[in-house]
Amino acid sequence: MESRGGNETITETGKEMAMDGVYVEEEVIQVHELMPIRAALDSDMEHIADITDQFSQTMDPILRMYNAAMCAAAARLEIIEDEFKYRRQRCPIHHIDTRLKSAASILGKLEKKDLDLTLSAACNNIFDIAGIRVVCSYIKDVYLIRDRLLAQDDIYIMDIKDYIAEPKKNGYRSLHMIVRVPVYFMNKKQMVPVELQLRTLAMDLWASLEHDIKYKSLYQGVVADFSDELKECSKLIYAAEEKMEMMNRLLEE
Ligand code: GTP
Ligand code: MG
Repeated sequence: MESRGGNETITETGKEMAMDGVYVEEEVIQVHELMPIRAALDSDMEHIADITDQFSQTMDPILRMYNAAMCAAAARLEIIEDEFKYRRQRCPIHHIDTRLKSAASILGKLEKKDLDLTLSAACNNIFDIAGIRVVCSYIKDVYLIRDRLLAQDDIYIMDIKDYIAEPKKNGYRSLHMIVRVPVYFMNKKQMVPVELQLRTLAMDLWASLEHDIKYKSLYQGVVADFSDELKECSKLIYAAEEKMEMMNRLLEE
């Protein structure tokens, strides 16, 4: 699938963008290789603690830039919200959550992906350092918000994954977008990636509880495989959502 956001062509996989990371007016930001790489990790635990500490410190200014991008993107969404409130129309956004990944969790993700433990590897490969979850009432609201963002010509769309049209095998549904938003940082315009997860209240209910159940069964020593039950719950929740969507359609159309 190809679609357009801003001036840029995007693909379903976003592979062409895979190396993009943070841009300074179309150039990749020059982040110092501040971290000694993987070999260092093979040494003792104390060294590992040192690396984690150094990484946190060097990551800090970069995290501020991601935080700025997250706030800028959230502000765009709040403006959309405000427009509907002003017009006294039902607001397509139920609520918005934001989260910034911690340096420790970025380091963990780099390790998991077997990437170099460097700031540039983080900026060029991890696109959910800044994350926004937009929870809507109905499915049509999710696509309305997507279209409003696609129409903003200074937001570049790096990737879209539509797990509503094609849910994951486990029952997960949401619309994911990686967008780059302009941020003026260190006196330069930087295009900083932000991950947006757009979903309905029903999708959020399933995803939040699934996350909790999966987390408990993975990390709290309770050995249980609830994948069939979770799939069943997803069917029940979405069947109820469909009925409520239908009632809303009758009222709003
Ligand atoms: P990473 O960004 O490395 O996690 O991989 P990816 O880009 O292939 O992941 P994807 O876009 O599918 O998912 C990114 C985020 O969506 C995750 O970090 C979760 O917040 C959410 N997510 C994806 N799949 C699931 C799922 O099955 N259950 C829940 N609860 N959340 C999910
Ligand atoms: Mg992702």
